[in-house]
Amino acid sequence: MRSLARSYVDLRHILYIYVKRVFFTLYGPIPGLKPQFLVGNLLQTGIIGQNAPMNIVFLKLKVKFGDIFQFWLGPTRIIVVNCLEDAQHIFTHRQIYDQGDIFVEKLGLVNPNAVLCLRGAKFKRHASIVSPLFRGNKINVHLDAILDCTDKLLMRWRTYNNDPGQIHLNMIEQCQQLTLAIFGVIAFDFDLQTLEDENNSGKNELTRALYTHLNAAMKLIQLPTIIGRIYLFLNPEYRQARTIIDRYLQRMIEQELQESSIVRAERKRTSLIASLATSLQHDEKAEAIKTEETKKGLSRAEVMGEMLSFLSAGYSTTAAALVWFIYFMSKYPQVQSKIKREIAEYHSQCLSVEDLESLTYLDCVFRELFRLVPPAIGTARTLVADDRLPATGADLNKGDQVFISFYNLARDSRYWSESIDPEIFDPDRFSNDNIKYNNVAASIPFGGGHRQCMGQDLARLELKSICVRFMQYVTFGDGGPLFNAGGFKQTDTILPKHIGVTIHVD
Ligand code: HEM
Repeated sequence: MRSLARSYVDLRHILYIYVKRVFFTLYGPIPGLKPQFLVGNLLQTGIIGQNAPMNIVFLKLKVKFGDIFQFWLGPTRIIVVNCLEDAQHIFTHRQIYDQGDIFVEKLGLVNPNAVLCLRGAKFKRHASIVSPLFRGNKINVHLDAILDCTDKLLMRWRTYNNDPGQIHLNMIEQCQQLTLAIFGVIAFDFDLQTLEDENNSGKNELTRALYTHLNAAMKLIQLPTIIGRIYLFLNPEYRQARTIIDRYLQRMIEQELQESSIVRAERKRTSLIASLATSLQHDEKAEAIKTEETKKGLSRAEVMGEMLSFLSAGYSTTAAALVWFIYFMSKYPQVQSKIKREIAEYHSQCLSVEDLESLTYLDCVFRELFRLVPPAIGTARTLVADDRLPATGADLNKGDQVFISFYNLARDSRYWSESIDPEIFDPDRFSNDNIKYNNVAASIPFGGGHRQCMGQDLARLELKSICVRFMQYVTFGDGGPLFNAGGFKQTDTILPKHIGVTIHVD
């Protein structure tokens, strides 16, 4: 009996050593903090426990370790790359650096059919259907819809003039409601009604469900895959959110399928839902037994996966950029006035795409915004073959996962002119006089290479047109150090921790 108990203890000991060795030990010559059992570096850096935002943690670790270091997101080891030459090498060698495991294995748990979570032939099949939709001139047809939704929000803000000193603390929610409403119309021809009710009740259940869904997805990155599966299964809030989201997606598909195929064929070049509905497989069972290379179209589950993937990717990142815009306007009234002057000088109330293109100072503002506070802190790639990075000389092995830190590159004084501190917000960094002194390639808010953001043209059009509309009609004011203190809050994007602004209708 005693020897049985002893061998049980021995077995547990061996298992502990094995798991610790395989998942939680610093290895190789790349520096980093020693990972702790189960939590990796998350506890010691305050990401767990103190809600330390990851961008700040990585900035500090760069000061400590330099251009490359290891970091353990719980059981997942990533190699954080902070040097532009190495980042560019990774982006341009797609045959070595494929989509990161963080996306495929972890986020794939919540949406295995999202283009972001796919590799190889399945990625190509999905990308051929969804990627052409949001490129170049095709998105210009959406301008009126974007402006209509923005005008709805402005109508709400007009009522604020009754109390002009009021400090608004719900800018994040309001921006999310706006970008979600816009995305519903332009991608799905569907009125999500998120702007109907400021107080986030009733009709805004979708906003809340998406928030829960994205938060759950973020937690998965820090958990072993098997625990992640259990976490999702046992999380009633997540399951309820998923039911709500699926109900909306089903409704959108049904609405689309009621259209005639002729109407749909006309719209499929610019409408995501029309393109997805056109791609629906006629015989799912027959397609399912084909090899991935010979499959055509998408199954209904895949269509729903892509709808959710674009909905998530399309609204929260754009909303984050919008929130930062409002925050910086409230803090830099001289920048806000200069934008207003530029708009007033050249433009009437009706906006065209050409009008937007001529607003060069506003372009500088956005470039600076995307540099200083990119909504996504970085991106990941997994090696499918061994490689050596050109600048740091780091030897990487097949299966390693690299993480390119957008934040660290964008604040590195090696790439930015000495005359304007890279830590401060100054759109003049990108003016014609100054731009040549900066290595603008070090600002990569939309990623790079073959897996760069598919929605970046739309995001730029959306942000520029919304902000022009804002600047035509309202002025944002600083709600004071207590409410408008900035800082960083980590969700699926990086947001200001404290934002409180006044909104004055001009
Ligand atoms: C300010 C807004 C946005 C930012 C900052 C942003 C940023 C990013 C980043 C950093 C990536 C990963 C790129 C890489 O790994 O190299 C990405 C991927 C992606 N984004 Fe965006 N995005 C934005 C808006 C949008 C919008 C509006 C859409 C949809 C229309 C969208 C759809 C996607 C998709 C589908 C992917 C996955 C691409 C792939 O895996 O091949 N994004 N985005």
